[in-house]
Amino acid sequence: MKKRILTGDRPTGQLHIGHYVGSLKSRLEFQNEFDTLVLIANIQALTDNFDDPAKVNSNILEVLKDYIAVGLDPNLVTFILQSEISEISDLTVIYSNLVSISRLMRNPTVKSEIIQKKNKFSKDSVTFGFLGYPINQAADITTFMADLVPVGGDQAPMVEQTVEIVKKFNGIYGDVLKIPQIYISEYPRLVGLDGKSKMSKSLNNTINFSDSTEIIKNKIMTMYTDPNRIHKNDPGRVEGNPVFIYHNIFNTNKSEVKELEARYRKGTVGDVEVKERLFESIEAFIYPIRETRLSLENKEEYLLEILDQGTKRGKKIASETLNKVKEALYLNILKK
Ligand code: TRP
Repeated sequence: MKKRILTGDRPTGQLHIGHYVGSLKSRLEFQNEFDTLVLIANIQALTDNFDDPAKVNSNILEVLKDYIAVGLDPNLVTFILQSEISEISDLTVIYSNLVSISRLMRNPTVKSEIIQKKNKFSKDSVTFGFLGYPINQAADITTFMADLVPVGGDQAPMVEQTVEIVKKFNGIYGDVLKIPQIYISEYPRLVGLDGKSKMSKSLNNTINFSDSTEIIKNKIMTMYTDPNRIHKNDPGRVEGNPVFIYHNIFNTNKSEVKELEARYRKGTVGDVEVKERLFESIEAFIYPIRETRLSLENKEEYLLEILDQGTKRGKKIASETLNKVKEALYLNILKK
C-alpha cells in the first residue's frame, strides 16, 4: 500500500510562484510515489472570509485550474472539496475538547495571522472559528489518515498541533488515529516582489500563474532589489536580494546565475540586465503553466467532474474514520 499524503489550500485567490516553491513543487514530486490527497479548504477559508462566501466559492475552480496547470495529474491526485466532507466538522467538535484555549492562543501561525489581519480582527474580536482553525486542520489531516503532510514552513505549527491532538486522543480513547509526519519543503517561504518576507496575495507582491507576459515583465522590472545600490557600477548585495533569490530558484542556467552574482558584487552589471535575465527565466517557467491554465478556461464541467470524483473517494475514507472514532467514544449506539 502506498503511503498517503494530505495537503490543502484555502481557495481565497489564485495561486502564485510562492505556492509553487512552498508546496506545489513537493506535491509534484510526491504524486507518483504516494497516494496524494489535496483538499480545497473552503470551510477553513470562511474562518477569515465569513463576510465574503462568494469570493471563496469563485476561487475553488481557480485553484483547481492552478493545480492541474502546474502538473498535478487528476489521474494520480485526489482533489477533495472540504465542505462536502461533514465528517471533518464532526471531528473538529470532538477534538475541541482536547485543546485548551491558551494552547490555541500560543499557536505561532494563528498569533501572527491575527496581527496580520488587524483590520478584520482586533484583539478582542477574534472569532471562535478563527482561533480554532488549527483544530479544523487537525481534523482535515486525521480524517484522511494521512501519513505525511508536506507544507510550507508557516504551516508547521498546524501539523505539530495535530500530532498533539492525535496523541491525546489515542491516549484517552485508544489507538484510533494515525500520527502524521510533517515534510517541510526546501524553500519554505518565498520572499515577495517587494522584499517583504512572504509572497502573499494579501500583500499584493505575487507573480501568479495566470499573469500575462507583460504583467510579469512589469512586475520583475520594478521589483525590489538592493536598495543601497544607486549606480550600476556600485558593488551590490547578492545575499537576501530577492532578484537573486528568484534567479537561484527559477533560472535553469546555473553558470549564468554564478556569473551575474559575481558581476553584481563587483558592480559590473546593472539591475536592468539582471532583471531581464530573471524575466526570461520566469517567463520560460510560467509559459507552459499559463497555456494549460488557459486551455482549462470554459471547462467547468470537466473540472467539476474531477472534483466530484475526488470528493466521493475522500468521503469514503472520511466515513470509515468517523465510524472508528464514534465507536471509540460510544457515539454509535444506534448503529449497532
Ligand atoms: N491552512 C493551510 C493554508 O492556509 C491550508 C490547509 C487546510 C491545509 N487544510 C490543510 C494544509 C491540511 C495542509 C493540510 O495554507
